[in-house]
Amino acid sequence: MAQVECIGHILIFPYPAQGHVNSMLKLAHLLDLANFHITFFVSSTIHARLLALTDVDSGRFSPRFRLKSFPPGIYDGGIDSREGALELYHSLHTIAKPFLKQYIAHNRDSGLPFTCFISDLVLSIALEVSEQCFNLPVYYFRTIGACAFWAFFSLPDLFEAGELPIKENGMESPITKVKGMEDFLRARDLPSWCRYEEDDTARIVYTETRRAVEARALILNTFEDLEGPILSQIRTKCPKVYTIGPLHARLMATLASKSTHSNSLWQEDETCMAWLDSQEPKSVIYVSFGSISVITRQQLMEFWYGLVNSGKKFLWVMRSDLVAGKDVESPIPSELEEGTKANGYIIGWAPQEAVLDHPAVGGFLTHSGWNSTLESIAAGVPMICWPFFADQQTNSRFVGEVWKLGLDMKDVCDRSSVEKLIRELMEKRKGEFLERAENMVKLAKEAISEGGSSYCNFDCLIQDIIKLNESMSEEDTVKCAD
Ligand code: UDX
Repeated sequence: MAQVECIGHILIFPYPAQGHVNSMLKLAHLLDLANFHITFFVSSTIHARLLALTDVDSGRFSPRFRLKSFPPGIYDGGIDSREGALELYHSLHTIAKPFLKQYIAHNRDSGLPFTCFISDLVLSIALEVSEQCFNLPVYYFRTIGACAFWAFFSLPDLFEAGELPIKENGMESPITKVKGMEDFLRARDLPSWCRYEEDDTARIVYTETRRAVEARALILNTFEDLEGPILSQIRTKCPKVYTIGPLHARLMATLASKSTHSNSLWQEDETCMAWLDSQEPKSVIYVSFGSISVITRQQLMEFWYGLVNSGKKFLWVMRSDLVAGKDVESPIPSELEEGTKANGYIIGWAPQEAVLDHPAVGGFLTHSGWNSTLESIAAGVPMICWPFFADQQTNSRFVGEVWKLGLDMKDVCDRSSVEKLIRELMEKRKGEFLERAENMVKLAKEAISEGGSSYCNFDCLIQDIIKLNESMSEEDTVKCAD
């Protein structure tokens, strides 16, 4: 095949879950607009869902972008439990790793060799494939915030110092071994899966995170004015950190559009937009627990009563697989049905960025996933945080205690607390939260505007990849081991 002129060919590999695919596709879109060739790998299940539900294959990208699927077999069950997460991790190692190795070797002879790899959570796959294939430079794009990245990075120090596992009645104990967070981090602000034991999930997460130092650079979907002090800590270990977020806002600005393209793996219900149009400004609390969290029927009822009893308007995303357990189908009490008819709107999946940007939305009851947090920050919507797992426990602490952009209700789930916090956010302290949220919107906008930190960092990243591409010479094309 004839050599195609190209400024760089990037292999992108997100962890196969909604939040990861979403932010990495946005990164891919920005890199496509910067004229790179992109090959983007997802599991076969996600591949099928993206083709069915989005315009990923029809006009959004240039012909330089290729969406590819791994061979079938990658675990596609729930990853809300450690068993599911481990199964996915191992299936990626057994299926994606050998496949990528072969693919890169084959690609080397195709006339459009890869310049670099941008890998997500499971960095070890990229690093090991790279070691065996041409030392392909690896960038680590971690789709979580700097705060959670740094907490994950510090986990071995916490186990060593005995701050983890948490001792009996120790949830409020101060955590002193995450540098830069000594003044406010408590045991309950660490990922739920490492609270009680140093199990395989904890070990995998901190080992993968610590390998960031081996990557050519770390890329984070955040901005300097939001997480500067923690980024300084990270830079003591990973000197090259590109903060390029909020990515969705940067993409919107680049496209000169009011929205980005949907990367949803569920069918978006657009009818909620007309419902929002009929509501008063800043009157609606939007409720969503993201793409992975699963709650019990009891928790569902507590949130539902809290929302209805607050008397506020609410838009609630109830994914078809949100509630676990056998009594899912039990009838809904009539007072909830009536309260919802009067004040609520329930859908299966929302066009979330557009919802958060809608003038009627004045609050977000969220599970504190990083994308949701950043989308809320960029839209100036204060939050009530009910973190489920992983990075979310740390994100919610930052929202409540550091940025003061909302209220953190982790580990609490009763109807009267839900009602009280909604009233506090949407009524009593509304002005104060909205003012701080507006200030943060300004900083986010500055970051992604020409001359801003995220804008410049993205340019530096582009230049770095272009230089890599230029320096790729014939003598680098050593054979792939085996
Ligand atoms: C989890 C983590 O908590 C997150 O921090 C990590 O980076 C990825 O895994 P998830 O539950 O998917 O993520 O939450 P989040 O990071 O908030 O991502 C959810 C994405 O789905 C957001 O971009 C959000 O806009 C989108 N979404 C959610 C919709 O488009 N519609 C919905 O109804 C709900």
